[in-house]
Amino acid sequence: MMKGLKKWRLFSLLAVMTVFLSACGEEYISTLTPAGPVGQEQLNILLLATAIMTLVVVIVSVIYLLAFVKFRRSKVGENYMPKQVEGSHTLEVIWTVIPIILLLILSVPTLTATYKFANVAAMDEVDEEGNKTALTVNVTAKLYWWEFEYPDLGIITAQELVVPTGEKVYFNLIAADVKHSFWIPAVGGKMDTNVDNLNKFYLQFDKESEGLKDGVFYGKCAELCGPSHALMDFKVKTLEPAAFDAWVAAMKATEGNTADANSTNAGEAAFAKSCLGCHAVSGVSGAGVGPNLAAFGDRNRVAGFMDHTVEETTNWIVDPEFYKPGNLMTGKYNVSEEEAKAIAEYLMTLKVED
Ligand code: CUA
Repeated sequence: MMKGLKKWRLFSLLAVMTVFLSACGEEYISTLTPAGPVGQEQLNILLLATAIMTLVVVIVSVIYLLAFVKFRRSKVGENYMPKQVEGSHTLEVIWTVIPIILLLILSVPTLTATYKFANVAAMDEVDEEGNKTALTVNVTAKLYWWEFEYPDLGIITAQELVVPTGEKVYFNLIAADVKHSFWIPAVGGKMDTNVDNLNKFYLQFDKESEGLKDGVFYGKCAELCGPSHALMDFKVKTLEPAAFDAWVAAMKATEGNTADANSTNAGEAAFAKSCLGCHAVSGVSGAGVGPNLAAFGDRNRVAGFMDHTVEETTNWIVDPEFYKPGNLMTGKYNVSEEEAKAIAEYLMTLKVED
């Protein structure tokens, strides 16, 4: 009985591990399938470190086993005394020099890459007309969502980062409340977002996200930040440059958009009454208390992780605390379920893409 139970436990553990590891190698989230040079170089360092560690483990294990077999008492007899090597100069040099060499092999590429990825000098470069040549995105991490502002383009969005492929995109990273960490596993990172200081780095996205499972790369918060840390997801849409420019133009065209409390659209009227105070529907507004919703209808998820449907949006509006404990939207408004559904339907119409 006991034996059967143990086997069953081992089996369930393996089954859970299979589920857990099944995401490994998925292009939209895996560090093992990098979609840009930063991720690729980080993976190379990871592989180099793993190779060195494996080599050390194998060599040490082999020596250990050899000693184990060769010097068995039954083989060498009761009174065998092995050669005494305490204080051996040669041996001490060997086991000091080999680790130093291994550490050098590991540290040179690691340090080189670390300094390279932190080089954000191009952020300040301008062309003859004084326009910035590189794209910069200001990322603000908040409990539990992400704001993405494009300072040189005059637009702002949330939860779904949109970037062009084939060029370096520079990030200014900061947190509004507690420490979070910005991570797009398949593309590179991660980098802490702190409250007191700006962290900067760049990433390059070489693959259009359209062909991926959900049409986006997955981004995560990688720093324990509260009860809904695990739900603090965002998505990344990568577009070829012309499509990105079209998206920027469409975002700019939302300038001045607002919701009318007297609208005949019940959802818009309810939104204007209960939500507009915190959520802008124009992508040209400044930072809001809550996520900018100008492109809500284009998004891939609701609140970062729920299905992007009217039903789930309604559920979210009715009881955000149930879905994302500790979020800052809970208790800020009072809407009926009917109003929530109308608001959800209205939000789905807020689109900038075709
Ligand atoms: Cu934000 Cu974890």
